Amino acid sequence: MSFVPASVLLRAAQSGGYAVGAFNCSNMEIMQAIVRAAEAEKAPVILQVSQGAIKYAGLEYLVAMARAAARQAAVPIALHLDHGTDVGLILECVQAGFSSVMFDGSKLPLEQNIVLTRQVVEASRRARVSVEAELGRISGAEDDIAVGEHEALFTDPEEARFFVEQTGVDSLAVAIGTAHGRYRGEPKLDFERLSRISSSISTPIVLHGSSGVPDEAIREAIKRGVRKINIDTDIRQAFIGAVRQALAKDPEEIDPRKILGPAREAATEVIRGKIRLFGSSGKAEFFHGNRVLGG
Ligand code: G3H
Ligand code: 13P
Ligand code: ZN
Repeated sequence: MSFVPASVLLRAAQSGGYAVGAFNCSNMEIMQAIVRAAEAEKAPVILQVSQGAIKYAGLEYLVAMARAAARQAAVPIALHLDHGTDVGLILECVQAGFSSVMFDGSKLPLEQNIVLTRQVVEASRRARVSVEAELGRISGAEDDIAVGEHEALFTDPEEARFFVEQTGVDSLAVAIGTAHGRYRGEPKLDFERLSRISSSISTPIVLHGSSGVPDEAIREAIKRGVRKINIDTDIRQAFIGAVRQALAKDPEEIDPRKILGPAREAATEVIRGKIRLFGSSGKAEFFHGNRVLGG
């Protein structure tokens, strides 16, 4: 199977009332963990790579690995650029075969965010590539952006409606109280705001910074319209935790496979749990023989 446009996966999630997991990776083992988890759960999945991941692993390597995964997998897979801020790199990703890109203009003035998002939408449409945008500021570390918690601006529902009308984006990342990375306390999500955003737009809503958000809050967010859920930190924690354990068990071990193999398994388990929580287990079935695929 080739990559599926994320919009196709998210529209199905919209009608099915569940969310699709979007998992970050920048190496082979974590990419395999994501695909293995999705296959074990028979779930559609979004593989996402950040600009930092591309800098680390190289665009060609990441696309080639994801292609191999999609070719072998029996579940629909989208390849997505996460938090793209460099329009040149976004266009390179479109050229390279990504089926989805995010333009993150959340730190720009609204007008500029709209103009650049619209440019990315126009360029991507021609290639049948989906576009996610961000409105409001999700606090935490977003690539080079360091946003203080108190500076974080939540998404305004009316502005969201205007933004979607002006840009024609396929999905919208919103700021409702989540943050990237590890939480210090328990995150408090503004569910009332989320419901108002859901009523203002029919575009699928994306939740960033979803690691460490309690399961009950995730379920509530899905009930209120979240259709794509981004997870990075929880995977890193599981993966590196297992690396530490393997090294502690045998500090003399020098075979990377003996260290990274168990880490890949630990990551797979965490991702399977998330997929079940998001309600997307078993949903790959829907896409079999479906002619909307093939992005
Ligand atoms: O939201 C950001 C993602 O967790 C990616 O992080 O820029 O360190 O790859 P990164
Ligand atoms: P976490 O690292 O907090 O899970 O956030 C992931 C994310 O939003 C990627 O865009
Ligand atoms: Zn994010």
